[in-house]
Order: sequence, then structure tokens, then C-alpha cells
Amino acid sequence: MYTLGIETSCDETSVSVTDGLNILSNKVTSSVHLHSKYGGVVPEIASRFHLEYITPVLNESLKEAGIGLKDIKLIAVTKEPGLIGSLLVGISVARALSYSLNVPLVEVNHLMAHIYANIMHYKNLTFPMIGLIVSGGHTSIIAMSGIKKWKVLGETIDDAIGEAFDKVAKILGLGYPGGPIIEKRAGMGDPSKIKFPRSVLKEGMLDFSFSGIKTSVLYYVHRHQGRNPHTVKVKGEVFDLEPQVVNDICAGFQDAACDMIVEKAVLACRKKKIETLVVGGGVSANMVLRSKLKEEADKWMIKTYFPPMDLCLDNAAMVGGLGEALHRKKFLQ
Ligand code: KG4
Ligand code: ZN
Repeated sequence: MYTLGIETSCDETSVSVTDGLNILSNKVTSSVHLHSKYGGVVPEIASRFHLEYITPVLNESLKEAGIGLKDIKLIAVTKEPGLIGSLLVGISVARALSYSLNVPLVEVNHLMAHIYANIMHYKNLTFPMIGLIVSGGHTSIIAMSGIKKWKVLGETIDDAIGEAFDKVAKILGLGYPGGPIIEKRAGMGDPSKIKFPRSVLKEGMLDFSFSGIKTSVLYYVHRHQGRNPHTVKVKGEVFDLEPQVVNDICAGFQDAACDMIVEKAVLACRKKKIETLVVGGGVSANMVLRSKLKEEADKWMIKTYFPPMDLCLDNAAMVGGLGEALHRKKFLQ
């Protein structure tokens, strides 16, 4: 049964064709280049981009799958959470198609779709599991006994982890999105050079806080800019840090941010006595997070699962897959 998936919750316009756990096409186009100079997503620009690109992306996705609209038997779309203007584009297209093709429509939760990307990839994952969602807008730990049965165990009380990567990149003048560029610069830096504080909320709590570390980076930059005679000042901004110092800041920040995630995620598994930890969302593409999490989880015999790179960032296949599972009442437990 072919399912059309539609994802427009933030800055990626994506349409997929899936059949159960199989992905026939998963086309993604992004307005990320248009937001870069602002250091974050501009909602109005994102929604206008979706409006312009949703139809071409839909056509390309059908073409790649080698099917026509008449072959679609189900439509799945991201309902929440996300930018309201962006969500509206996807939902409107999905509802119009559902009505005109006379096929059912399933509206899904974007965060659960990120976790479901793993179920599509690994195919034999079993519940219960702990879900760790690390994206631009969310940082949450959930206990899941099925795709509709989940409970939030902890979440960020301020910035999301991806947001912290993006804000630190903005402070350092590195552009948007911050995650991939910080990871790259961190790879050239030394994580032990600059130690940023790991926020510890109440002992044993599973909530996160990332605004403190972001502010520490800001203070560090303010204290150190202009000190080095070899650097260049651009518009009086922070670019007068030597490139190697920027690399070390990125490495120190990434190290601390990942440690905070690892500690709570593993603690959640231990508290709940659940040995499957499934990670989803854009930050799950980060290789340092992957290796730190795996290393710590291995010590406690916890198995970690990350989506393949093409399913880490926002994409429609995870939405289509989850929509079909909900429609067919699979993985409900
Ligand atoms: O899941 P996603 O595509 O969109 C949301 O649902 O928010 O996540 C986007 C976030 C951005 O904050 C981006 O900076 C971050 O994921 N990100 C990364 C990496 N790739 C993307 N963060 C750290 N390391 C990466 N390699
Ligand atoms: Zn996302």
C-alpha cells in the first residue's frame, strides 16, 4: 500500500512515498540557505518556501517512486509541533489531496516520527524503549511502550540542544544551521582546552538546561575577543578570535553539550530498566554524540539505535511510515 508522506514543520519541504517500512522515495528540499544570514529560521520565509516548493517536490517524489497520485492509498502529514505557517502548508496540501483522491489522512506527531525513523530502518526493534529526541526545537526523553503510548520523562527547561548549537554558531559568526559547522570546527579543536560547565539540575532529574552553556560561550567570547594581535576584527564583532580558538570553543561546547545528553539518557534507561535507547532528530547526526552515547550505554548493557544519516534531519519518509503504522494499528502494543 503506497503512502504519501508530507513534512513541512520547519525549514525542510519533504514528500515521500513509502510502503510499510520500505522507502520508495524521500525528496527533501530546504530553505536553510535563506535563513543562514539571520542565524535561525525566519518563519515567514520558511512558509513561503514551502508554498513554492511543495508541488515540485511532490511531483519529483512520485516520479522517483514510479507511481502516480491515483496509486496513493493513504496520506500522512506532520500535524505538530512546528512553525504554524509552515505546518499549514503541508496540512492544507494533505487535506486537499485526501479529499480529492478520496483516501484517508493521518496527521502525525513530528517527534514520534523522528523516533519512528529507527523502526523503519532497523525493522526488528521491539518495545519498550526509551526515546531520546534531540532536534532544533526539542530535547526530550520519553518512555515508549508503543507508538501511541509514551510518557515524557524529561525535557529541556529552556533551549533545545540543536538550538544551543545554532545559537553558539551565531555567537561565533559561523552561520546557520550551527550543528554541522560546529561539529566540523570541533573536529579541528581540542575539547580539553576550554571547559564549559555541564548544567546539573536536581540530582537524578531527567530534565535538561542548555541556556547556561550557551551563555558561558558568549561570556568566554566577550572576555577573549580582541586579545590576540594576529586576528582580524570584522564589524567590531567576535571574528577577532583566532580560528584555532574558535575550533577549541566548538570542541569544548560540543563535548559538554553531548555529555549532558548522554548522562540523562542513560540514567533514564537505568531508572526504567529499559535496555533499548532510540535516538531521533537532527542532532542525532552528530558523531561525537553517537560515540559518547554508545560508549556510556554499552557500560550498562543498553543498546543504542541511531537513524541513518538521511533520516536524521526532517524528512517525509518517517512521517509516511508512522502514519501508515498508526492507520494499520501496528506497533501500538
Ligand atoms: O530535526 P531537525 O532537522 O529539525 C527540527 O525538528 O528541529 O533538527 C535540526 C537541528 C538544528 O538545530 C541543527 O543545527 C541540528 O539539528 N543539527 C546538528 C547536526 N546536524 C543538524 N547538531 C549537531 N551536530 C550535527 N551534525
Ligand atoms: Zn525534526
